[in-house]
Formats: sequence, structure tokens, C-alpha cells
Amino acid sequence: MAQPNYRAPKGTADMLPDIARVWEHLLLVAQDLFARYGYEPVYSPVFEHTDVFVRGIGEATDIVGKEMYTFEDKGGRSITLRPEGTASVVRAVLEHNLTANGQSTKLYYSGPMFRYERPQAGRTRQFWQIGVEALGMADPTADAEVIALMMQFFEDAGLPRERLQLLINSIGDENCRPVYRDTIAQFIRSHAGDLCEECVRRAETNPLRAFDCKNEGCRTVMGQAPQLRDELCDDCAAHYAAVKTNLDAVGVSYIEDPTLVRGLDYYTRTVFEVQAEGLGAQSAIGGGGRYDRLVEVFGGQPTPGLGFALGFERMFLALQAAGVEVPRPEIAEVFVARTVPELATEAFAITQRLRDGEIAAEMDHQGRSLKAQMKVADRLGAQFVVLVGPDEVAAGQVTLRDMTTKDEQRVDIADVVDVLYEALADVYMDEAEDMLDAIDGSEEI
Ligand code: HAM
Repeated sequence: MAQPNYRAPKGTADMLPDIARVWEHLLLVAQDLFARYGYEPVYSPVFEHTDVFVRGIGEATDIVGKEMYTFEDKGGRSITLRPEGTASVVRAVLEHNLTANGQSTKLYYSGPMFRYERPQAGRTRQFWQIGVEALGMADPTADAEVIALMMQFFEDAGLPRERLQLLINSIGDENCRPVYRDTIAQFIRSHAGDLCEECVRRAETNPLRAFDCKNEGCRTVMGQAPQLRDELCDDCAAHYAAVKTNLDAVGVSYIEDPTLVRGLDYYTRTVFEVQAEGLGAQSAIGGGGRYDRLVEVFGGQPTPGLGFALGFERMFLALQAAGVEVPRPEIAEVFVARTVPELATEAFAITQRLRDGEIAAEMDHQGRSLKAQMKVADRLGAQFVVLVGPDEVAAGQVTLRDMTTKDEQRVDIADVVDVLYEALADVYMDEAEDMLDAIDGSEEI
């Protein structure tokens, strides 16, 4: 019989506290920033009817063709774990009529996505995204706003702008793209000898994806292919020009990449991607674009849409490569230690009293000796220890020890929260002054 396997499945990873803390930090940054841009939170199911993705993302894409976690549920339905958030959110918007009567809606989401890809650094089978979707807005100012929002997110998250590249392109719409697709299919056929098998096959299925081939030879050949930006219809050309004007107006710098096509079929007109330094092959930390026909694919009225999503695993690597540290919050500002085991309940009651007063407090639940408790207090970085001993308790008091100065004072239990507020405020003021001195000092240099 096969041995049971108790390791996380290939391509998945546990987010242990040092990583989960960064995820939660990014969620807070997103909540704060996205709200300022008028976005509201949305949570859709992590699985959908398979058709949502097949029709939404497109049958000829790698995601639908090779990467979906699809299974039949016990009711005989074909179900797929979401490989991305856009199709689900648009399905939800339509199902709940959020864009009825021409209303617009701005939504953001976060959570795990699933793609059966070959795992490597920055590429996993369960990965975590933060994304936004804006429905009902056709104007190019909306494109510039979404792009500016994404760049602001990276800045607020602490990623230096000089380590990022924003690539933009327009891939046209149903008027100009079909003609261009044929042109590229023809180009691929006439260069079949110099392209890989996959690219040659793409001429018949999804010719624009040949621009995405990682093969150096294919990249060189496709670099000489006719570019869509030269063949956009007048409306798409004007829209693209206006997106750039609006980005320029607010000082968002970008690089035009005429080969940027992105791997999902729903895009129309604007597409964009952000690449970060120091990530190796998987350098796209986020991407998005406009999808003006997606609502119709799901049977709704024509409704423009656009959005972006960023990948947490790659954000984490980019933050690491840039040397950005997310501060670790104190686990315990105060440790409550008892001098004898019999005072466990008293120690517990005092710990709870401190927590009720919003002080981060911790105690021992393993019957440790006083010496061992003091070691734990040190390890947790506690600024103060509240010592609970028989004499103190008899007098309705505790001893407060400052872990830095080692000073001790007796305090009435009734006053312990207030005394600690003051003592902790002094500690934080000192720390803030030290930080300011450091900043002043560094400016002098
Ligand atoms: P996407 O480019 O497929 O777009 O994914 C967005 C980001 O998710 C990527 O830039 C990358 O950081 C991350 N990502 C994708 N696949 C993986 C993976 N296997 N492992 C780790 N990270 C990954 C979308 O998903 C679109 N829904 C974005 C969008 C929103 N477009 C319009 N609205």
C-alpha cells in the first residue's frame, strides 16, 4: 500500500507567519488605497461552473487548455477552481445586476487562485492575488486611473519605482483585431521554418500568443512581425493615445511594448503589465487591461470593464530582492510571570485585564519556572514584566519590572493598566525620538 503523503501538494506552499504577515500587510495597504479610489470589497466563490472560465478566459488560452483544476462534483456538475478573479467577479456583477441602468461599479478582491503550471520560483499552482475590477467605464481616463492605482499600490507597499517597469499596449477591438490576427497567422505561416512547433500551431488557434513565446529564436522572428498599434482602427488608436495622454498628465511613466498581448482572451484595447527586478523568469508581478466584451459573453448588455491583478508570491520576492522589510509587530509588550505555580489563575486574570486594555500581553501556559518565564519574556521582546507573587497578591498588588533598566516598582492591580500605558508611552516616545535622530543624522551625511 502507498505510504500516506503528509506534505503540502506540489506547487502549493504554506504561508507561515513570516510570509502571512506580509500578505496581511499588503491587504491593509490595498484596503486603504483602493477605498480612496472608490473601490468596495467583493468575495466570489473559489470555484465556479467550468463554463465561466472556458467562455470568459477563452478556449484557446493556456489557462483553459492546460492549467485548470476541473472536476465533476457529486451532483455531476463540471466545476473548476478559479484560475483568476476577473471572470468570477464579472459573473457576479451580472448575476446581481450591479451595472443595471448604466451604473458603474468598482470592486476589489483577494484570495487564492489555482493553475496547474510547472512550479518554479514565483510560479505556484495555488497562488494569491489582489485585484480590482471596474465595470461600466469606457473613457480612457478610467484606464489611466486603474494603471495609476496599480503603480500607487506598489509604491505604498514599499517597492521602489526604479525597480519596476510598466509596459503598456493596445490590442484593439473586434473591428481591428480579427484583421490583425489574420495578418499574424499569415506571418507565422510564412516564417514557419524559423518558429517553434507551438508557435506554428498557434497560427491556427491563437496567433497573437506567438508574441509571448519564451524561445529566443521565436522572439526575434516575432519582433519583425507587423505591429497592431500601426493597424488599430481609428477609435482604438484614439483611445490608446488618450490613455497615454492621461498617464503623462499624472506623471505615470511607462514603456510601450507592441508585443505585449497577455494570456487571456477577454482583453480589448488597453493591456498592461508590471515587471520587477530580481525575479528571474517570472518577473510579471501584476497585469491587467480592458475587457469591453466580457459582460456580453456572459449574456449581459454591452458593458465596458477593466482591471488588474497582482501576484502575492512575486510581490514577496520583489520586496525581498529590494530589501524591504515588513515590521514585525510586538507579540508581547508585557509578559505576566508568576513566581509560584499556584498563582496561575491570578496571572491569567491580570493578563486578560491587560489585553482588555489593548496591551499586547502574554503569559506562560506550560508550568515553566520563573527563570524560564523570564527567558520567554526576553524572547518575545516584552518591554515590561508583571511579576505575580504571593506577597504582592496578598496586598492587591504586582511588581512591575522594566526589562531595559531592570527597575522595579509595586503597583496596585487596579492601576496596572494605567501605569503601563504611561510606561509604554515613554518607551515609544524614546523610540520615535531615536528614529527621528537617525533620520536627521542621515540627512547631515
Ligand atoms: P494574470 O496576468 O494571469 O492576470 O495574473 C496576474 C498576476 O498573477 C501575474 O502578474 C502574476 O504576478 C500572478 N500569477 C499568475 N499566475 C501565477 C502563478 N502560477 N504563480 C504565481 N503567481 C501567478 C489575471 O489573472 C487577470 N485576471 C488580471 C486582470 C484583472 N485583468 C483584468 N482584470
